[in-house]
Amino acid sequence: MIKSDVLVLGGGPGGYLAAERAAQGGKKVTLIEKRALGGTCLNEGCIPSKALLNSGKLYEHAKDSAAFGVVAEHVTIDHARVIARKDKVVKTLVSGVGATMQAHGVRVVMAEGIIKGKTADGFVVEAGNEEYAGEKLILACGSVPVVPPIPGLREGVESGFVMTNREVLDRKELPKHLVVIGGGVIGLELASYFNMVDVPVTVIEMLDKIAGPTEKEVSAALLKEYKKRGIDFKLGCAVTSVGTDRVMYKEDDAEKEVRCDAVLCCIGRRAFTQNLGIENLGVYMERGAVVTDDHMQTNIAGVYAVGDVNGKIMLAHTAYREAEVAVNHILGKKDFMRYNAIPSVIYTNPEIAGVGETEESARAKGMEVRSVKASMKMSGRYLAEVEKGDGFCKLVIDTRKNCLVGCHMIGSYTSEMIYGAALMIEKQMPIEQIKELVFPHPTVSEVIREALFL
Ligand code: NAI
Repeated sequence: MIKSDVLVLGGGPGGYLAAERAAQGGKKVTLIEKRALGGTCLNEGCIPSKALLNSGKLYEHAKDSAAFGVVAEHVTIDHARVIARKDKVVKTLVSGVGATMQAHGVRVVMAEGIIKGKTADGFVVEAGNEEYAGEKLILACGSVPVVPPIPGLREGVESGFVMTNREVLDRKELPKHLVVIGGGVIGLELASYFNMVDVPVTVIEMLDKIAGPTEKEVSAALLKEYKKRGIDFKLGCAVTSVGTDRVMYKEDDAEKEVRCDAVLCCIGRRAFTQNLGIENLGVYMERGAVVTDDHMQTNIAGVYAVGDVNGKIMLAHTAYREAEVAVNHILGKKDFMRYNAIPSVIYTNPEIAGVGETEESARAKGMEVRSVKASMKMSGRYLAEVEKGDGFCKLVIDTRKNCLVGCHMIGSYTSEMIYGAALMIEKQMPIEQIKELVFPHPTVSEVIREALFL
């Protein structure tokens, strides 16, 4: 039996940051990971998709460069090299996480961990024919793609015709026609890449809007932009079955089909909690996800759950913060988790980013709000650098408290700007105080300040 103060199950952003922070706090830490350090984010999610999207943007810029006075001829895309570069980026970051663990004295066990229960030594996890015990246990086991019981879908995954985010990021050849099932975050980011590299893309989405809970004007602007770029959308259409060279869907009670040579299925993810032995501890779960309090502790004292496994907000940056909150609780430091100012970004081209309330969600909570909308074209830098696109920034202001409660944007750089709005919301800064802040000029971020004066 190998004993530690803190056992961490899962080496994604939630797990590795929890391990690092606990070690920094003087704890003896063991981290157990069955596949690769970095988890979904580094290996088959956030980071690899950003590498692809950047190649797509470079290709698009190179083709459209004449408008900027740069003449490039015979520009082509080499998708296999895009994937090879992505692999290099992933390898660098994964080995960086390994080095960080080593630098902090974290014992890393590369094996599948199964929770055995609680003994006098602490919480016990078996991994690779060895038993590990921890006084505290942090569950950071992440999530897996949902593959619903649509006829033909599972067979398609087995044959390789249907891909999830994992397979699509490794495929070295471009498809001739890609069907994307699900117009949510993953679907849109990858549809954006394949569209940029000239692959015809059809997105089939059950709802009548794309990008799920995204603010409605932003979502509509993104849809308009995508249609202009040639992506075909089947909205309000549920997929009914998948064949070997086509996808069948229902539109207004009529059965229709679209032929293709590859399918990407991205209709959501679920917390990964099966066959882990979680039930051996009696940890309470709801709809397959581990339930936690605002210290990220479960109903079992000393057992915490951070990241996708608690099913709250499946974003790497949420996992980071949850990991810190859990570790602070273990270290006896005062802290608690707040979800009201967590930014979300969809790294499509153009990017969209949002934080806090929309007008609708604010009113549903009984808030009195007004909104203001500023065009990105108010920014000199945006005009100088972005040839196409009608980006905007929409602010939602609580008129009783006179503070910002929401910010929703579409356009270049919004992913880098959104944290500023998150800060203003988290700190509940009065509008008059925000107006006194000096923004660097020329930057696209100035549009947030401009909007406040409308
Ligand atoms: P999602 O929940 O964002 O979108 C799934 C979409 O599929 C929904 O719009 C839903 O209406 C649709 N859908 C469900 N069943 C369908 C059917 N039978 N036919 C047609 N459409 C159907 O899920 P997604 O895109 O798989 O992403 C999973 C998770 O990964 C998300 O929770 C997200 O937070 C995370 N993620 C975050 C990223 C980011 O922050 N930039 C990037 C990629 C993933």
